[in-house]
Parts: sequence; C-alpha cells; structure tokens
Amino acid sequence: MDTKMIDIISPLTNEVIGQVKAMSKKEVGAIIQKAKESWPAWRELASSKRMEYLYNAADLLEERADELAEIVMLEVGKDKKSARTEVMRTADMIRFTVDIAKGLNGTMIPAENFPGGSKNKYAITNREPLGVVLAISPFNYPVNLAASKIAPALVTGNTVVFKPATQGSLSGTFLANVFLEAGIPEGVLAVITGKGSEIGDYVVVHKDIDFVNFTGSTEVGQHIAQQVRMIPILMELGGKDAAVVLEDADLDLAAKHIVAGAFSYSGQRCTAIKRVLVVNEVADALVDKIRIHVMELKVGNPADTEGGLDVVPLINEKAADFVEELIIDAKEKGANILCGGTREGNMVQPTLIDHVTTDMRVAWEEPFGPVLPVLRVASMEEAIQIANESEYGLQSSVFTKDVDKAFEVARKLEVGTVQINNKTERGPDNLPFLGVKSSGIGVQGIMYSIEAMTRVKSTVLNLS
Ligand code: NAP
Ligand code: G3P
Repeated sequence: MDTKMIDIISPLTNEVIGQVKAMSKKEVGAIIQKAKESWPAWRELASSKRMEYLYNAADLLEERADELAEIVMLEVGKDKKSARTEVMRTADMIRFTVDIAKGLNGTMIPAENFPGGSKNKYAITNREPLGVVLAISPFNYPVNLAASKIAPALVTGNTVVFKPATQGSLSGTFLANVFLEAGIPEGVLAVITGKGSEIGDYVVVHKDIDFVNFTGSTEVGQHIAQQVRMIPILMELGGKDAAVVLEDADLDLAAKHIVAGAFSYSGQRCTAIKRVLVVNEVADALVDKIRIHVMELKVGNPADTEGGLDVVPLINEKAADFVEELIIDAKEKGANILCGGTREGNMVQPTLIDHVTTDMRVAWEEPFGPVLPVLRVASMEEAIQIANESEYGLQSSVFTKDVDKAFEVARKLEVGTVQINNKTERGPDNLPFLGVKSSGIGVQGIMYSIEAMTRVKSTVLNLS
C-alpha cells in the first residue's frame, strides 16, 4: 500500500517545505506498543543516566538552534529571533527539568503520629513513572510546548509517544531526533504524524496510553477529555486573557505591556492579552497610548527579514478569516476600529478596536490573531465581573499602583495566574502554568509537570 504523505506548506512562502507521513492506525499502534515494551528497561535505567541523555539533548539543541529556528520560522511563521529564543529557552527548560528531578525525593511517615499508630510502622514513599505518556502539542510553540511534556516525562522514567501539530511536525520531528541522538533509546520516544482529526481519537483511547498531556484549543481538549479512559490527563487550552486597568495605573507601563502582550507573534499565543477592561476615568488616555504603540509595531514577513517583527502572517488563511469575522462583527455593532482592520491573505494588520461592548463576539471569542478589543467599564467591580463571565480562565493582568487593590483583583479573578503590572505570559518555564474553566485541567511548569507524570508509591515497613 502506498505511503500517504502530507505536504507541509509554509505560511510565509506558500511553498512546500517538507513532508510527513499520514500514519495509519496500524503504524500508530505499533509505535505505541513499542513504547509500552520499552518502558520496563527505561524505568529501570539509573535516573542519572536518563538525566545525562537529557543534558546531552539540551546541548545538541543549542548547537542546532539556528537550523531549528529556521525550520520553526518557515513552518509556523514565527519571527526568526523569536524562533531562536524559543529553541534556547527550551534547552534551558530541559536542563532545569533535570535539576528539579535530581531533587525528587520521597518521605518517611511514622504511623505513631496517628492515635493508636504503632511505633514500629513507617510508610516510605517515592514517586514512580506512569508508563506511556501521550504528548500532543499545538502549532504555535512547536519546540517549547513539545519539550515541556517530553523532558519531564522521560527524566522520570516514562516513555513518550509524541504527536506534534501537523503544522509543526517538521519542527517536532527535528526536536525528537535531537533527543534520540542524545542517547534516548529507540522506542522510548517516538513521533506519530498525521492529522489529529484522523488518528487522534484512536491514539487518545489506546489501551497502552497511561497519561495524556495535551496543549491546544479548548474545542479539541474538551473532545479528548470526553473520550479518555480512566487515566490522568493534563490539559492547557485556549484563553481570553484580560488586562484590567484601574484609575491609578501607570498608563505608559500598561500600554507598553498590553501591546507587547497582545500582538507579539500576531497574538498567536494562548497567553496573549485578548481584551482590555479599563475604567472610564483613564480610558481615553490609555487607548491613545496603546494606539501609538500599535502604530509602531513591526509588521512583515519573517522570510524577508533577519528578525525583530511583531506581527507576521497567521498560520493559515482560515485563521485570518476567523479574525476578520470578529472585526466585521464588532464594526457592524458599533465599535470603533482605531487602526488596522484589514487583511491580505493570511496577513492581518494589527487591529485596535475601541468601545467594544459585551454583545460583540470579539469580547468573548479567542481570535488567535493581532486584534485587541478595549471594553470601558465603570469600576474595578465591573471589570472583575466581565472578566469572570468568560468561559476561559488562563491568565489576567491587573495594572494599578495600589497593592491592596492588585491582590483584591487577583483573588477575585477566576483564572490560573494573575500578572500584576505585567503582560500575561507563561514564562519563565519554572513557574506554575495552568488554566481553569475552559482553559485547562492540571498544572504545568517544570516541577508540576514532573509531579503530574509520576505517582506516589507507598511502602509500609512493619517492624517486629
Ligand atoms: P488544536 O487545533 O487544538 O491542535 C492541537 C493539537 O491537537 C495538534 O497536535 C492537533 O493535531 C491535535 N488534535 C487535533 N484534533 C485532535 C483529536 N481529535 N485528538 C487528538 N489530537 C488532536 O490547536 P492549535 O491550532 O495547534 O493551537 C492553537 C490553540 O491552542 C489555541 O486555542 C490556543 O489558545 C491553544 N494553546 C494553548 C496553550 C496553553 O498552554 N494553554 C498553548 C498554546 C496553544 P493536528 O495539527 O494534526 O490537527
Ligand atoms: O501560547 C503558548 C504559551 O506557551 C506562551 O508562552 O511565555 O510566550 O507566554 P509565553
């Protein structure tokens, strides 16, 4: 039977930059079986050896940073400098994962602390790997959001079946090969390629998968969560991060962070700022400062530059169509398009929309594009209320000089993380990263990912 291949077309050049196999379920099943068979030896290998392989992988990744950054740029349209930063950040993250894993110790719990507990009974606990981890990553960080699953899984003795986004498979396969070249045995880490819509359902319910670590859209995440067997899952999904700006905020600081947070990589970040909730007293002044920054954004095609672009072509025309829909809806309902609002192919101009109201789609939907809606509110309380009405709960920012108000807003916002006087962002990778409501299940961040992909083993010592 002829092998079916998928052309990977660059969103920057519209040229075929590579091909990946559209794997059959039989091929995928064989890879999962191999991962299961490889698990006993891998978990029995001294953790110091596993750690050595990962350190080697980090070194190799750094050596190949320029080569991989070029692939990332062409495959997902990321600015060359940002692509290289992602690769270097990932090497740091792999090393940090090993360092955290070195401190992974257990406990000794005396039974006698409990009323009637024997002095001769102790529980000794340690953490054990779960088995075969299915790592599924999105297109927008094809290196970092893959390794953030692969590294903690491997270092703790799991084997990994890795499904990159199809538009990210060249980058993901390159990354996997770096791990294999670093010493990770065949079978311990393997890549499956093919459209998630075709092989996804088969792989997520496969009997030999022991953990699903998914990052992607809420729609797909919810679909997966409704199918998986009784195994643990970790989900990082969509977001609609709000920047709450209070009357005493430093508006220059707020405007700078809001624009960087909303428009870098064309807003194709789960943690992009996707709405501003600003109190009326300072709305005009803030919007004017934001508009100036938006007008200064560097817009272009990364294939034509050496880097430094903020707004680049979106991952595909369908993504641009969706962003355009939201802009048109807002305009038709009376919003004020202060700049941008146009697109050509998959290039959408950075768009600032003022006087957005809650009847408009862009107030609630995740554009995953360079568009920033500004909603004006009467008070901090109204800002919190609107922020919490979102189905999403990834991150939010609050801009104020009043530390009491900052913590009050942080306490009341139904999100995983609140940034005080900063844009919303996941990094640095050692910090906890989580979404609540439709933004996810569980916590990422190196230590948390290690905990998520291991479990407690309790061995109780009963002395005579
Ligand atoms: P996506 O369309 O949900 O795809 C994510 C991954 O899931 C891809 O590898 C995709 O494979 C796979 N997939 C698709 N259908 C599947 C199925 N039925 N079963 C199993 N896997 C399946 O997301 P994306 O477009 O790559 O990324 C953008 C979205 O991800 C945005 O909503 C963004 O907010 C979210 N995201 C969240 C975070 C976070 O940390 N919270 C980070 C980055 C992105 P194919 O590519 O082959 O379809
Ligand atoms: O959207 C993916 C998420 O990993 C973004 O990371 O650090 O740019 O907020 P960061």
